[in-house]
Amino acid sequence: MKRIFEADPWKVIGNVFDNDTNEIAESIMSLANGHMGFRGNFEEDFSGSTLKGTYIAGVYYPDKTKVGWWKNGYPEYFAKVLNACDMISIHLWIDGEKVDLSKCHFENFTRELDMKQGTFTRKFDVITMTGKRVRVGSLRFVSMEKKEIGAIRYTVQPLGDSVDVRLISYLNGDVRNRDSNFDDMFWEKISVASHDGISNITMATKKTGFIVSSSACEQVAVKGVDLKGTLVSDDGLYIGNEYSSRVEPGSLFIMFKYFSITTSRDYETSEVTGKSLERASEARETRFDALLEEHRKSWASIWSYADVVIEGDMLSQQGIRFNIFHLFQTYTGHDNRLNIGPKGFTGEKYGGSTYWDTEAFCFPFFLSTAREDVARSLLIYRYNHLENARKNAKKLGLEGALYPMVTMNGEECHNEWEITFEEIHRNGAIAYAVYNYVNYTGDEEYLQEYGLHVLYEIARFWASRVNYNPRKGKYMILGVTGPNEYENNVSNNWYTNTMAAFCLRYASEAADGIRKRNPGRFAEIAGEINISDDEIKRFVTISENMYFPYIDELDVFAQQDGFMDKELLTVDDLPLSDRPINQNWSWDRILRSCFIKQADVIQAFYFFPFEYDTDVKKRNFDFYEPMTVHESSLSSCIYSVLASDIGYYDKAYELYLRASRLDIDNYNNDTEDGLHITSTAGSWLAIVHGFGGLRVKDGLLRFNPALPEEWTGYSFIIYFRGRRIKINVREDMVGATLLEGEAITIRIWNNEVDLYNDNKVIEIKGKS
Ligand code: BGC
Repeated sequence: MKRIFEADPWKVIGNVFDNDTNEIAESIMSLANGHMGFRGNFEEDFSGSTLKGTYIAGVYYPDKTKVGWWKNGYPEYFAKVLNACDMISIHLWIDGEKVDLSKCHFENFTRELDMKQGTFTRKFDVITMTGKRVRVGSLRFVSMEKKEIGAIRYTVQPLGDSVDVRLISYLNGDVRNRDSNFDDMFWEKISVASHDGISNITMATKKTGFIVSSSACEQVAVKGVDLKGTLVSDDGLYIGNEYSSRVEPGSLFIMFKYFSITTSRDYETSEVTGKSLERASEARETRFDALLEEHRKSWASIWSYADVVIEGDMLSQQGIRFNIFHLFQTYTGHDNRLNIGPKGFTGEKYGGSTYWDTEAFCFPFFLSTAREDVARSLLIYRYNHLENARKNAKKLGLEGALYPMVTMNGEECHNEWEITFEEIHRNGAIAYAVYNYVNYTGDEEYLQEYGLHVLYEIARFWASRVNYNPRKGKYMILGVTGPNEYENNVSNNWYTNTMAAFCLRYASEAADGIRKRNPGRFAEIAGEINISDDEIKRFVTISENMYFPYIDELDVFAQQDGFMDKELLTVDDLPLSDRPINQNWSWDRILRSCFIKQADVIQAFYFFPFEYDTDVKKRNFDFYEPMTVHESSLSSCIYSVLASDIGYYDKAYELYLRASRLDIDNYNNDTEDGLHITSTAGSWLAIVHGFGGLRVKDGLLRFNPALPEEWTGYSFIIYFRGRRIKINVREDMVGATLLEGEAITIRIWNNEVDLYNDNKVIEIKGKS
């Protein structure tokens, strides 16, 4: 494989400029802070291959659905994350020649994402037509400390003769989405103005009416002398400041650009512009170095509790840090109206909306790294969407709540039939997250306040979606798409049925538990959502009599009815030129084939590790893995966890590497669209749940660590019930340290280990 980036433990470095991979690099080098995000676009003009991207959390546009044949119940729109006002850009001329790396001559190009510091830097030497060499450098960050602010340091330095430098730092609101269905402009202008040297563009989104105000200002100096800018603007959505100076060799033209974004999600409409200007002005007063320092400190604090250290394997180390970095850039948990889009702030595709990816993959990461309130925010998000989920079920003629497959505000906004209507397994992942949270944190109060409402309505949905087959005496779920989207409209997808049975059982147990422990609260909830004993009984009956397709001759679960009618091939039978099949085969051929896009049966083994014994897991893994093409970013990571679980460590390592470097190495040939945030979380699961073997059962935190051959050691830190615990794995030895919180007993392999708050490393030798 030809790697695009250099390996480094804390950085992603690109030393070669290649127009064909430029958009990949832009995705990789994206910066964000949970509130706003920017692809790693160049500041100066670039007429080569680029996807410009500025994204703002929670700001979306309902792009009118585009389908050939309208079917009843289709959502009216597909929510799009918006490409917002471009704030980072500049025009640069050196001796009158415009700098555009697609056109001018340059050398020594390098760009670098520094995950430790949270910065994106670039450097290159421009060679002018007359042969003058000028070094251009930039450093950008999006503050993790002050969410509405970001800054750039941009330098121009003649290395030989003196040059004339002319620079316009601007805002441009005339932006569109590449994935717009009808090439519409999603924004309308409110105001474009300059106040005290600060350029401002305030725009509103069409239809959704979000007001977004973008501001930018600069401090520019040459040889320590400040330059004054001249206002430039046009009648449209363009405004900025122009600076020019003769720059002698040895001296530096330096610009600090401060930018801010505020929105009507956080402020009254009348305040949004004023706040944006205020933020930019505060940033200018605080100055670049101080802002950068506090930003670095925020990252240092995150790394102090969330870092995973891998020794002996640089590629693995780089992969996991890259992924952790992007996860914390994507979600901070400060705002429970927000969620985790599968592309985070790194691209347009997938609408920046919420999928089941959040609960199934990202949730456990935040649960074990950040404090409880971060994971809790994700649950509250779904609780707040319950009413819309009820409406969604009703539209289909069903009861209870059907959470959308894709959403921004609780309404379904995905428009492919087989996904919107058939991929109902997402309801299972949402209920599972409630279980996961309560099991992990022991926070019963959450269940009483919010959890039961969600669980019960989900169970109600399943109870109305199943149908009873009297010939088999079983409940069945027909016409679904399982996690494996390379099959549609199948009956009795084993995973879906398993999740439905789990939801029904867990909802009834949760209701009974609350009834016993807090009858008063139970009576309130029962009144609010109309819980009845008969209905709970029905949940239990369906759960206990669910149909699970089985392949007797192989002693494995059948992914769905009729799976064995297929021609059974393995991925090794596929010529390389056919891969990925979703880019080379007709959809018809894919649907008829046995090839599996992503973990399906195996996904349930991940959720319920104690329900199936190792032999069962092995048999199913051996049957399904060879048919799995892993063409979803949700696949390799889960297979990796399972491979560790059953002791297939080589396979686990191979799949871990693929998951953790999915984007850095562009495995799925689509990183230019943006990163796969779900896989970033999945690769952490592959380490901590997979190799580390983290599980929680009956309130006891357990580890079953193994060391992949390629590594000499690894360590990670876990947040668990008010404690921070560090696990350090070496060959035949595991060290455990309680870094924070009260004494606790944990289990490592089969040993009960008492940890006290004394920072001592307790060493457990070998598996016993
Ligand atoms: C996967 C889905 C996933 C979606 C967003 C699809 O390719 O098959 O399971 O929810 O991507 O990541």
